[in-house]
Amino acid sequence: MTTIKKLRELEIILNKSTGKKVLGMVPTMGSLHEGHISLVNRAVKMCDEVWVSIFVNPAQFNDINDYKKYPVDLKKDIDNIKSINQNINIFIPNVNDIYGAKIVKDKFDFQKVDKVLEGIKRPGHFNGVGTIVKKLFEIFKPNLVFFGEKDFQQTIIVQKIIDNYFKNIKMIVCPTVRSEDGLALSSRNSLLSKDAKKNISAIYDSLLFAKQNFNKFSDNDLKSIIKNKIEKNTGYILDYFELRCSKTLRFCNRKNIKKCCCRAFICVIVDGVRLIDNLVMTNEN
Ligand code: PAJ
Repeated sequence: MTTIKKLRELEIILNKSTGKKVLGMVPTMGSLHEGHISLVNRAVKMCDEVWVSIFVNPAQFNDINDYKKYPVDLKKDIDNIKSINQNINIFIPNVNDIYGAKIVKDKFDFQKVDKVLEGIKRPGHFNGVGTIVKKLFEIFKPNLVFFGEKDFQQTIIVQKIIDNYFKNIKMIVCPTVRSEDGLALSSRNSLLSKDAKKNISAIYDSLLFAKQNFNKFSDNDLKSIIKNKIEKNTGYILDYFELRCSKTLRFCNRKNIKKCCCRAFICVIVDGVRLIDNLVMTNEN
């Protein structure tokens, strides 16, 4: 995997040396934090022209309240981006620009990777993500697009959109940026109360525990240990903890770990806020 990634980066450098302009795109829903910024920085390093989109996409929310309370701070976002580099372009469409009078979601065949994990908990969510990503790629025709490993299932969905409609786009997946307590940065974190944050390290600690003890326990045993670790904290509910193959998102095949590349996926609801994270358990090849 690293080798292919390196080859791709080399290809981009070659592209540059032949004078072809490399256009990079970073789709976001705004309320930017260091996680988003790491994607933008990577894009600036690899591309001649960078576009960051900020659009809270109604089509990917299955809960209208979740959509309504999604944090928005456009001025701060613009200042944040411009402080990296004045030349970065920012695209801030409104709902009408993107969808016209009626929000219609495309229906994609994601070969079942949208039927697990977040896909079960948020029906229709990935069709909504696919719809906006496809529209943005059609508008900007980027060469490189930048997405975060934090939303690992989303990267698989986006790769399927690329494979089906945009053979010339390459996706760069950037590592998860965390705060000191291990919490994966997310715009939703701003919805957490001070009290709720006290034990928040339990989420990443659980993933690290799973990694360290992956060979010691079965999937079910790991899951029940982690459920206890999470739910001993008041207001914390384990929504799911699952060990799945990084490529197919099927359950881990521990007998063929080399082919499977096992990854742990977790979702914890803290005071009503859904927090997702994931960590690779075995070396990916
Ligand atoms: P949003 O949640 O704003 O995230 C935008 C991008 O930032 C995604 O690729 C996400 O994986 C990445 N990201 C978020 N938190 C991160 C972190 N802590 N470390 C590294 N990368 C992180 O994901 C979406 O928006 C939307 O679904 C979108 C793709 C824009 C379509 O509407």
